[in-house]
Amino acid sequence: YKRITTQSLIEMKANAEKISMLTAYDFTMAGMVDAAGCDVILVGDSASNVMAGHETTLPITLDQMIYHASSVVRAVKRALVVVDLPFGSYQSDPKEALRSSIRIMKESGGHAVKLEGGSEIKDSIKKILHAGIPVMGHLGLTPQSIYKFGTYTVRAKEEAEAEKLLEDVKLLERLGCFAIVLEKIPAALAEKAAKSVNVPIIGIGAGGGVDGQVLVIHDMLGMNNEFSPRFLRRYLNLYEQMTGAIGNYVADVKSSDFPNASEQY
Ligand code: KIV
Ligand code: NA
Repeated sequence: YKRITTQSLIEMKANAEKISMLTAYDFTMAGMVDAAGCDVILVGDSASNVMAGHETTLPITLDQMIYHASSVVRAVKRALVVVDLPFGSYQSDPKEALRSSIRIMKESGGHAVKLEGGSEIKDSIKKILHAGIPVMGHLGLTPQSIYKFGTYTVRAKEEAEAEKLLEDVKLLERLGCFAIVLEKIPAALAEKAAKSVNVPIIGIGAGGGVDGQVLVIHDMLGMNNEFSPRFLRRYLNLYEQMTGAIGNYVADVKSSDFPNASEQY
């Protein structure tokens, strides 16, 4: 395999080739995402929700992110592996942000880090980039700020927030971020943002006018039934298929159908 690099993504945007990105948090899933040809694998702090069952992304720790990321890295031959800096591991000051990023790079073998925010964290982004660590930005609905927002609804519908987002996108490009995630904002605003910079814009709930798309793998495989935002396309109903299969196993054990004569020694 020819490995995907941060440079490959910038070239893909220049060539108008869309970028595919999915999350993964473990070895087995990451191996499948990589084998299927997904360009970027995000070890998202959404692990806090889908792996650990927390209501928000805030509780997951840096150690836990490193555990997930190192499992993913061991499976991946081609994709670029980006790791979320979790809440509390970078907001205090640029030195803490750098220290946390270095731990991710050394202990997990990931290829880049992702942080939520714009101008508020520009000194941290600079510091991380100066150490040679690639940074992916994340603007719009930034789930680590859920207690500030109060809801998970669409962001930047108002003029002022939209203006700040466009400025932050340009700032992140100027600082040297290699890509930016825009989450749950109006499609027209996301398209305008994507057209205003050379750095690739990866959308989630941000429409088709951007340079790539990202989804949480458990959501796109239909592993949970409760989460159904408009932006989510389900490619399987794994919840139904898996609970069905597990139910069949339980029934076969109960009825002594499993194991049969050819399934024993
Ligand atoms: O943690 C995550 O899954 C993310 C994506 C939704 C972009 O940050
Ligand atoms: Na995240």
